[in-house]
Amino acid sequence: AGTLGAAAAQSGRYFGAAVAAGRLGESAYVTTLDREFNSVTAENEMKWDATEPTRGSFTFGSADRIVDHAQSRGMKIRGHTLVWHAQIPGWVQNLSSAADARAALTGHINGVMGHYRGKIHTWDVVNEAFADGGAVGSLRSSIWTQRIGNGFIEEAFRAARAADPNAKLCYNDYNIDDADAAKTRGVYNMVRDFKARGVPIDCVGLQSHFGQVPSNYRRNIEQFAALGVDVQITELDIGGSGTAQADAYRRVVEACMAVSRCTGITVWGVTDRYSWRSGDTPLLFDGNYNKKPAYDAVLNAL
Ligand code: XIL
Repeated sequence: AGTLGAAAAQSGRYFGAAVAAGRLGESAYVTTLDREFNSVTAENEMKWDATEPTRGSFTFGSADRIVDHAQSRGMKIRGHTLVWHAQIPGWVQNLSSAADARAALTGHINGVMGHYRGKIHTWDVVNEAFADGGAVGSLRSSIWTQRIGNGFIEEAFRAARAADPNAKLCYNDYNIDDADAAKTRGVYNMVRDFKARGVPIDCVGLQSHFGQVPSNYRRNIEQFAALGVDVQITELDIGGSGTAQADAYRRVVEACMAVSRCTGITVWGVTDRYSWRSGDTPLLFDGNYNKKPAYDAVLNAL
């Protein structure tokens, strides 16, 4: 196959990109997106500050533009993200009690998932809840842990299953790519516990914002898959350029291809021109939409 999406589809996988609604009027951007990718993630437009800036008033204009674009071209759509500590509006920061926080959490999940019910194959239900340092299993302090406690993750997944029973529900995070790291062990233990107790969870999203690809990345994918969840590589980008970057991308794609439960890969942008990692060139197309060595490495590995 001659494109990333078509190559991934040969094994039943998708190959997606994070998309910014504000770029959908740029012809080179859209040409590359439409030719190469068969899945999209809204880079910012489905986050809480964009979708519910005022309590109970939902605004889907920018997100709908991405969804409409994708649907009209037969692309899949990943939903990102429902519950996070970042990019939340002031009213969420100011939630004043456990009951208030629970009502806001459920209201948001119902409002956003309800709007897109049937259109989104996978939701990142909870994003980046685990802490970077500290003991295995420690969560980052946030409005959610402060008001609800550590159980907010389970509550969010239960609400999400009820809101759209057909969507796959993911826990998504960064620095959970090294199979043996403490943060990874914490997420692993949570998923194992959820599966044992019947808390609904279908997948783990490995963001995979890389400098170096961990040497045990494939084993990490395998260990999550062995718990009975899918793995999706959700925000892939790798710093650098040239052959080293291409080799790193190849290793990531090969690791996913080796595990049947690794069902899709999303890169966190179409072109280096608009990468969130300013000053770096971590994507598959350069600033002029030329294919980079990393592109060829990925295409060959799919
Ligand atoms: C980033 C976007 O790419 C930026 O445009 C925005 O300013 C900040 O958020 N982890 C995530 C993504 O889950 O939502 C983040 O996206 C990158 C890190």
